[in-house]
Amino acid sequence: MSTPRHAPARFARGWHCLGLVRQFTDGQPHEIEAFGTKLAVFRGQDDGRLHVLDAYCRHMGGDLAHGTIKGDTLACPFHDWRWGGDGKCAAIPYAQRVPPRARTRAWTTLEENGQLFVWHDPQGNAPDPGVTIPRMDWIDDEASDWSDWSWDSVLVEGAHCRELVDNIVDMAHFFYVHHSVPTRFTNVFEGHVATMYVESTPRRDSGMELIGADLSLRSDASYHGPSYMIDRIWQPLGDGTEAESVLVNCHYPVTADSFVLMYGVRVRRLPGMTAGQAEEAAARTAQGVRAAFDQDIEIWRHKTRVDSPLLSDGDGPVYQLRRWYEQFYVDVADIEADMLRRFEFEVDTRHAGEAWEREMAANLGRAGAPGTS
Ligand code: FES
Ligand SMILES: [Fe+2]
Repeated sequence: MSTPRHAPARFARGWHCLGLVRQFTDGQPHEIEAFGTKLAVFRGQDDGRLHVLDAYCRHMGGDLAHGTIKGDTLACPFHDWRWGGDGKCAAIPYAQRVPPRARTRAWTTLEENGQLFVWHDPQGNAPDPGVTIPRMDWIDDEASDWSDWSWDSVLVEGAHCRELVDNIVDMAHFFYVHHSVPTRFTNVFEGHVATMYVESTPRRDSGMELIGADLSLRSDASYHGPSYMIDRIWQPLGDGTEAESVLVNCHYPVTADSFVLMYGVRVRRLPGMTAGQAEEAAARTAQGVRAAFDQDIEIWRHKTRVDSPLLSDGDGPVYQLRRWYEQFYVDVADIEADMLRRFEFEVDTRHAGEAWEREMAANLGRAGAPGTS
């Protein structure tokens, strides 16, 4: 089965990243299929701000994403109605007056970390001021030390985005799917933030080219809301120094069983590294991230959705994570205390580590034995 059954038709409440700001500043409107509809993103020529409107024109359904930016309005390609970034129809050149109630939906936007976000809320409320996208000020303070974003995206079909979020409690899949060996694995959920603290080493019996393929790593990865993760990664280089990078892993739903997964990497320049080498390192790391996501996607493509998984003592806190995640899918009035309450859990990796050590040794022994290939 590749199509999840009973996936909820409702989309999460929260900030959703649509991509890098610079993707939308080429003077053209951009089309984004998201939240079961289509959005048009454009930058006003005078105000210089990014605006997001429902793409389908309220007049007769023209696609604004195929229109033209005229001043601070987006002009529909069908009859040239001009839509302002506030959602109001600003002009209809061939008509004597604009109907006073001519408006469309303008999405609330936010620009942070060089990225564009929209607020999605099935109840139509304004953004909760307590729910923010953190500014990566540790980069801004020393921006010249860091590469720019190496950024890409992939459309994932046949899976609800909960599959992606589940990963942050799924200790064992890192060994089997991503060829890394978690040696420490801790989760903390509180309020709208869910974190995974991991330390891992690469599988010795795997030639996979992945993020940290040849290095141990330490990673602090937090979802801020339902769909935007900041993952800080440190990799010891053996001489007492560490390579430092940041991965943004974010997504927005397209339909109930498809989503666009985006990922971006910035790396900190090591001593002696040129700016160009830092950009190359970021691009290489992003390729490794993509390879890891492709491994996940291959699993999602063939699995089914399971709301009540059967777990073992070696698994992470899937049910508690799902409870945390539910806060974004219920009305604000229906959010319950246990969805927000602080929850901490450390997965005991010792038993798994011993089993995997034996498995790797056996695989290496087999590969090294005479007469085998
Ligand atoms: S459909 Fe957009 S102007 Fe007519
Ligand atoms: Fe994964």
